[in-house]
Amino acid sequence: MRTKVIDALKSTEFGKEITVKGWVRTRRGNKNVGFIALNDGSTIKNLQIVVDYEKMAEESLKDVTTGACICAVGTLTQSQGAGQSVEVLAKSIEVYGTADDTYPLQKKGCTMEYLRGIAHLRPRTNTFSAVLRLRHNMAYAIHTFFHNKGYYYFHTPLITASDCEGAGQMFQVTTLDLNRIAKGSNPEVDYSRDFFGKPTSLTVSGQLEGELGATALGAIYTFGPTFRAENSNTPRHLAEFWMIEPEIAFMDKDELMDLEEEFVKFCVKWALDNCMDDLEFLNQMIDKGLIERLKAVTETEFMRLPYTEGVKILEDAIKNGKKFEFPVFWGCDLASEHERYLVEEHFKRPVIMTDYPQEIKAFYMKQNSDGKTVQGTDVLFPEIGEIIGGSVREESYDKRMKRIEELHIPMKDMTWYLDTRKYGSCPHAGFGLGFERLMLFVTGMQNIRDVIPFPRTPKNAEY
Ligand code: 4AD
Ligand code: MG
Repeated sequence: MRTKVIDALKSTEFGKEITVKGWVRTRRGNKNVGFIALNDGSTIKNLQIVVDYEKMAEESLKDVTTGACICAVGTLTQSQGAGQSVEVLAKSIEVYGTADDTYPLQKKGCTMEYLRGIAHLRPRTNTFSAVLRLRHNMAYAIHTFFHNKGYYYFHTPLITASDCEGAGQMFQVTTLDLNRIAKGSNPEVDYSRDFFGKPTSLTVSGQLEGELGATALGAIYTFGPTFRAENSNTPRHLAEFWMIEPEIAFMDKDELMDLEEEFVKFCVKWALDNCMDDLEFLNQMIDKGLIERLKAVTETEFMRLPYTEGVKILEDAIKNGKKFEFPVFWGCDLASEHERYLVEEHFKRPVIMTDYPQEIKAFYMKQNSDGKTVQGTDVLFPEIGEIIGGSVREESYDKRMKRIEELHIPMKDMTWYLDTRKYGSCPHAGFGLGFERLMLFVTGMQNIRDVIPFPRTPKNAEY
């Protein structure tokens, strides 16, 4: 039976024969003895396999090279060498798959850019295996958090006819033959002949359907892929990203902010409690301040800041000589440089910004009595900027209708949504956490392309 490297490293059953399987990270040694560093993905740490060339001919190990996959049988022993507590004295080694010197991960210290070009192999590096184990653990933490609170995991459709955010950033889904349409003489597309009989797209958010769930089950959350055809080539944007969207009946703005804060802190603490080996590696290799920053977030109270006050702080900063690329005025959509100034320089902690001008926010947010602002509650993080977008929802049928008309949102696509307001409407609220933005924060990685196995960005859909 195979022993995983993570279990072998913890074992104290010295003298026992074990079988380990994995990929060779490095092989070194001298003419008498060879040392193979074996990794099987179960931990950032390698298991050392020691080969005595008197007992096993060196020639038989010619295929045991960096990248090769092997099965080693041997005796678990207490290690004499520094850096590890156990090792395996090999009795036999079988090579499952060779890797010759064209294997692209020969050397340590490849750049992130180089690794992006070989994203099919980069999970075999220390950095990406650490990121991917953390990614799994964060997903597990998220399900745990909501399950423990009695929220139901609610599956919303990926193909939809409605644009939740109203930003026109949707990828169209069609089975029509675009080549034939392009060659035809009719400039109008006949969608009745399309698969769904009408124009459809990939979803930008599961929120609208999530609201249907919340107004029946009380509290739900979604956790799935979302798609945005925004042409933003930045280290913070993906065309396909995963979003977590809780939606809760009878929740008000203060409770929503409490939930956002508790949720993010829970996830970060989970990483600290369960993924220390990987965090220590990333702290050493990628970002020296990582663990300290994660601890700080779990211990600090987030600043709660109305947009109007935030704008005042930024205007004062400009008066005192602070330079920004983009202008600041009441009503502007704050740029990431503004958000980061507030979080990193002014307050030096995460900020939950609230009560935004209605013009810069989506149609579904609840209006304040001033008639100008809406009850949005975005969470802004150091380094990342916006990590959560949330709001109390407008539950009044009439106010909702008025806004839909003002924004010329096609009504025929919205009747099902309006029924939540027409029948048994209730106050409710929710938010969306960008999973990869959380991953950026938790891993200290600098580019969102490096916290998802196969990133989708403009002009890039490899694999
Ligand atoms: O602020 P957004 O657009 O809000 C919504 O979609 C709401 N429907 C959520 C809700 O209230 N249920 O997106 C939510 C979060 C952002 O705060 C950000 O973390 C992430 O999703 N996000 C992206 N992450 C990666 N790439 C992109 N292109 C992203 N766009 C948004
Ligand atoms: Mg947003």
